[in-house]
Amino acid sequence: MDLRIYKDRQEVAEQFSAYFVEKANTGKVFHVALSGGSTPKIVFDVLTEHFSDKVDWNKVHFYWGDERCVPPTDDESNYKMTMEHLFSKIEVPEANIHRIRGEEEPKTEAICYANLLEINLDEIEGTPQFDLVILGMGDDGHTASIFPHQINLWNVEDHCVVATHPDSGQNRVSINGKVINTAKEVAFLVTGASKAEKVKAVVEKTEGSKDYPAALVDPKSGNLVWFLDKDAAADLNPNPS
Ligand code: 6PG
Repeated sequence: MDLRIYKDRQEVAEQFSAYFVEKANTGKVFHVALSGGSTPKIVFDVLTEHFSDKVDWNKVHFYWGDERCVPPTDDESNYKMTMEHLFSKIEVPEANIHRIRGEEEPKTEAICYANLLEINLDEIEGTPQFDLVILGMGDDGHTASIFPHQINLWNVEDHCVVATHPDSGQNRVSINGKVINTAKEVAFLVTGASKAEKVKAVVEKTEGSKDYPAALVDPKSGNLVWFLDKDAAADLNPNPS
């Protein structure tokens, strides 16, 4: 496990942006699944401010690991956030942006999006393979939109599932655990003191950590990178055995 710990969110954003540029610039088409929430905002702001001319965006295809079932104009929409912080500031062809349509009936959209992934991506043993999946982690240990109370969704056969937020009941469309763990590389972006307890549990595989979906992230490729700030890493054992 590749743990990269930085002093604050800004440095996480800078270091992740440099990593992303290196990964994206393979000269081939690059298929990346984005995460939502608040952490990516600062990453996208840094990426567009300092690295926008360092990537051939024609070769980058953007997907989401999860989306809230709201219209793309809704402030809750991960697509809207990404449009504001990333797409509006780089020269990326519209055809390269493959959003989950939050305005559609969730079960129907989950099937449609799974079909899109099967068409657009290489398949490994029947599962679509991203070049990179970017994940966040909630305070409760959820990742993408697989929450602890629905951890059974992690292993379902369908590549995309309909999940519900445990507090708001909001529907989400999310890729499942098999798609995540089939990716060539997975990068966690986790910052803030509120994540420290679950980061420790997930990284150190403590008792009960398997109840957290984030703990089930274990790409077959072995390529899992954590980008953490010091606050999120505060509870980690400084001298792991
Ligand atoms: C979402 C995300 C979700 C997010 C975590 C962490 O749609 O909300 O995909 O999994 O990554 O909740 O969010 P923060 O980065 O805002 O803490």
